[in-house]
Amino acid sequence: MGYEPQADFGTPESRSDVAVTLTIDGRAVTVPAGTSVMRAAAECGGQIPKLCATDSVKAFGSCRMCLVEVDGMRGTPASCTTPVGEGMVVHTQTPRLQRLRKGVMELYISDHPLDCLTCSANNDCELQDTAAQVGLRDVRFGYDGANHLGAALDTSNPYFDFDPSKCIACSRCVRACDEVQGTLALTIDGRGFASKVSAGQAGDDFLSSECVSCGACVQACPTATLQEKAVKEIGKPERAVITTCAYCGVGCTFRAEMRGEQLVRMVPWKDGKANRGHSCVKGRFAWGYANHQDRITQPMIRDSVDDPWRVVSWDEAFSYTANKLNAIKAAHGARALGGITSSRCTNEEVWLVQKLIRSGFGSNNVDTCARVCHSPTGYGLSKTFGTSAGTQDFDSVMDADVVMVIGANPTDGHPVFASRLKRRLRQGAKLIVIDPRRIDLVRSPHIQADYHLPLQPGTNVAVLTAIAHTIVTEGLADEAFIRERCDWDEYQDWAAFVSQDRHSPETLEPVTRVPAAYLRAAARLYATGGNGAIYYGLGVTEHSQGSSTVMSIANLAMATGNIGRRGVGVNPLRGQNNVQGSCDMGSFPHELPGYRHISGS
Ligand code: SF4
Ligand code: SF4
Ligand code: SF4
Ligand code: FES
Repeated sequence: MGYEPQADFGTPESRSDVAVTLTIDGRAVTVPAGTSVMRAAAECGGQIPKLCATDSVKAFGSCRMCLVEVDGMRGTPASCTTPVGEGMVVHTQTPRLQRLRKGVMELYISDHPLDCLTCSANNDCELQDTAAQVGLRDVRFGYDGANHLGAALDTSNPYFDFDPSKCIACSRCVRACDEVQGTLALTIDGRGFASKVSAGQAGDDFLSSECVSCGACVQACPTATLQEKAVKEIGKPERAVITTCAYCGVGCTFRAEMRGEQLVRMVPWKDGKANRGHSCVKGRFAWGYANHQDRITQPMIRDSVDDPWRVVSWDEAFSYTANKLNAIKAAHGARALGGITSSRCTNEEVWLVQKLIRSGFGSNNVDTCARVCHSPTGYGLSKTFGTSAGTQDFDSVMDADVVMVIGANPTDGHPVFASRLKRRLRQGAKLIVIDPRRIDLVRSPHIQADYHLPLQPGTNVAVLTAIAHTIVTEGLADEAFIRERCDWDEYQDWAAFVSQDRHSPETLEPVTRVPAAYLRAAARLYATGGNGAIYYGLGVTEHSQGSSTVMSIANLAMATGNIGRRGVGVNPLRGQNNVQGSCDMGSFPHELPGYRHISGS
């Protein structure tokens, strides 16, 4: 793929099911209701000039660059904040609009450095592109008036610089930090001409502010004001390769933007199903390994640990390895050989490794890193649901009404999912945190957990059983759902078990250290608050009774009817990006691909 930035539709996609048809510059276009005129124009191949709009954040309507004319409507409304209407007739290119846009652009450029040739964003700058688009040829106001050209550079962040002399105060960075990342580290200080982007409190720079270096602001900035240090050093990328971040279980998709074999920057891919164009600091900036001098790029062998490594051809490496493995097998038998697969590999790679071990080596001595993180998920969910997969995709959280987070710290461990979750919480979803730690989600800007159950470590099963006790004994179970979708007899056994007095929140309080009334209130919220979704992490699966806890979680979801649609479900937050796939492919010694037990039964 050559270098082309991803298309920017100006405003976010509308999720409405209602279709609206309008005409833009003589072309009929049909889009979901709630779409902006700007996005509708972009979807039918048009290009309305814009500066303050980008499709990762809500429209703001501040730059006045995207004006259009609409038949029957007075004035020149901003296309980014004007929703489409049935039968609307829109004109985006008229002499009046051209005059207005050029005038606005002249004002911007009268307070902007004229150093395009030496600017790190040269040929990759929306301000430059928009100036070309509106046909800017002159700046009638001159360049000598009051300006911001002397504003000091902030180079404190290790990954990107902030050069306020190039800022057009469009607020895209501020909105990206609020809406996309949810850290709210940025603000626009001052008013009018004195408006300026500010990180943290007065006196802070980017490094000392709450900024977590996710880079969403850098991606949103239409100028070189927020710019990656690597781009400043290396130059504009020349091609992009789509790849997957291997750091955590979110599995964000990126465009690795390259110059030759040199990685220049990692830009989250808007079409990535897990991340939808967002990322965290690790995926976006911690990519030094890609071109690191210690990275092994050629096959090497040595006969003993005392010998130096010797670079060899692939043919020599393959035959050397095969001969050694055969010799071990001949001397010690098939069970002397084995292999471990990685959940950072693709399904195909993992399948081939287990196949080599089973068919080539002749043993079931294969295992995977999922053994130490989520094998309780595999076991617990397969026992309860019949399949070991989590039940939802990450988008599903946007339909949740009550979110229960158990033994996980998403803002640190799964940051891009956490940003999505925080967005949903800011929209009003309720939050229950079950964790001995006071994780960030318990209280952070604009987020406050409705219930935080700081249980005694090791009491996951007791807390979940007490929640189940409350739900069953207070008549909050969804009997219709259970009768239709679950096994009613088995449910009754379970209900009788959890209803016993020894499982009541009051009886268990000395064990769990969670006040009984508080636990009961959290249980009622989960059972009755609408779509209830459970997300859990290694605080469940890497603890004793991990499998029992996973089964308790699955039982809660089934008992309350919180399974089988968007916004609900049981969601393991995994350690790597392909834990699910590596288990599916038969990486455990006792299971063939597709979880067929080796006993053949
Ligand atoms: S890098 Fe992320 S957290 Fe920091 S200011 Fe930008 S958007 Fe906010
Ligand atoms: S730093 Fe960039 S995104 Fe933020 S207000 Fe300035 S020009 Fe806009
Ligand atoms: S959230 Fe996880 S997968 Fe996404 S960029 Fe960060 S470390 Fe990578
Ligand atoms: S892009 Fe519409 S007002 Fe700025």
